[in-house]
Amino acid sequence: MRKETPVRWDEKRGAWDAFDYQSVKNVLENKDLFSSNRSRRQEGEQASPIELSLISIDPPKHTQMRSLVNKAFTPRVMKDWRPRIERIANQLLDEIQNPSEIDLVKQYSYPLPVMVIAEILGVPIKDQAKFKDWSEWVVAGPTDNSPEAIKRLEENQQRTYYELYVYFKEIIAMKRKQPGEDIISVLIDAEMQGTMLTEDEIIGFCILLLVAGNETTTNLISNAYYCFTEFPELYEEIFKDPAGTLPLTIEEVLRYRSPVQSMSRVAKEDTVLNGSQIKAGNIVVAWMGSANRDEQQFENAHQFNIRRKPNPHLAFGKGIHFCLGAPLARLEAEIAMAEWIKRYPRFERSSGFSLEPIESTFVYGLKEFKL
Ligand code: HEM
Repeated sequence: MRKETPVRWDEKRGAWDAFDYQSVKNVLENKDLFSSNRSRRQEGEQASPIELSLISIDPPKHTQMRSLVNKAFTPRVMKDWRPRIERIANQLLDEIQNPSEIDLVKQYSYPLPVMVIAEILGVPIKDQAKFKDWSEWVVAGPTDNSPEAIKRLEENQQRTYYELYVYFKEIIAMKRKQPGEDIISVLIDAEMQGTMLTEDEIIGFCILLLVAGNETTTNLISNAYYCFTEFPELYEEIFKDPAGTLPLTIEEVLRYRSPVQSMSRVAKEDTVLNGSQIKAGNIVVAWMGSANRDEQQFENAHQFNIRRKPNPHLAFGKGIHFCLGAPLARLEAEIAMAEWIKRYPRFERSSGFSLEPIESTFVYGLKEFKL
């Protein structure tokens, strides 16, 4: 597909698909030709919080908002986060009696990012179960293409957004009275100093962090362990030199098993993409998962190789919308594996080994992973 039709029109979905590395990179990078405002709202319809958030807006608003929220994700801030994430990882590891009897997703790769994001947002950890339900609904697709399935999904998503809205409104009211060392307090402070985030925008950003940061990082961690089961020598190599190999491993997992497979844009004007005529208003889906396996860009693209240099994968996107949480996701994945490796010198599949992939064309990861 990537070779024969690197850019193709899909009549059924009414959208273009870009599969090759160069086209995917062009779509993501070219903010003047491709907009992130994907809303199909009719006039009078209310925008969802995600539609108002960073990931769905274009410059100049995007530039302003991003420069404000960037402050929460700098390398200095990440340094402060390291001991907190290590504590969370060890708390979860302490609860594991025997690694060959666990569901890795349920007991490790899912709770870790949720606990981290709860601390970053400064929300009570007891709300974790609600977070899971909410994030799943926001990123869910219809079970099939029938009008009933689409309607059901829309209703559930509306309910979810409403619940999230009410939830964060209460949290913000609480933080106004009693600020903490968390990102919501930072954003409220910025708002009060007259910088441009309204309460609705803060709520939209909180929801985006919850949604963008949870399932993606869970899948990165699960996918890394999936690679351990596929390439047993990898674990041995990491065990001998975690500091030297873990960052490389994470980059290769991101390329080889990209947690986010695609992002879409809307063409702002008529343009040509790798020979295809795109019309203004057309949706273009950039398939990063495919670009990351493009042989034109990566030698032996279907081989897992942590020594590949350079490794310019597009798993975190490219250009102005490049993942804000990439340093955090990398840190979480590194700590998750480093702390595990300290406890377990070997990684072996048990007799009950089984895994269940998530059914989605958008995210790539595991629903269940019994080691
Ligand atoms: C944007 C992937 C983790 C927050 C993005 C984009 C991708 C991505 C592909 C670009 C979207 C676009 O171009 O339209 C991932 C992956 C992750 C991850 C693969 C984990 C392995 C996180 C985490 C957070 C986060 C942990 C925060 C806690 C964001 C935000 C944006 C974003 C706020 C929007 C940035 C903007 O529009 O300027 N992410 N993400 N992500 N991500 Fe992540």
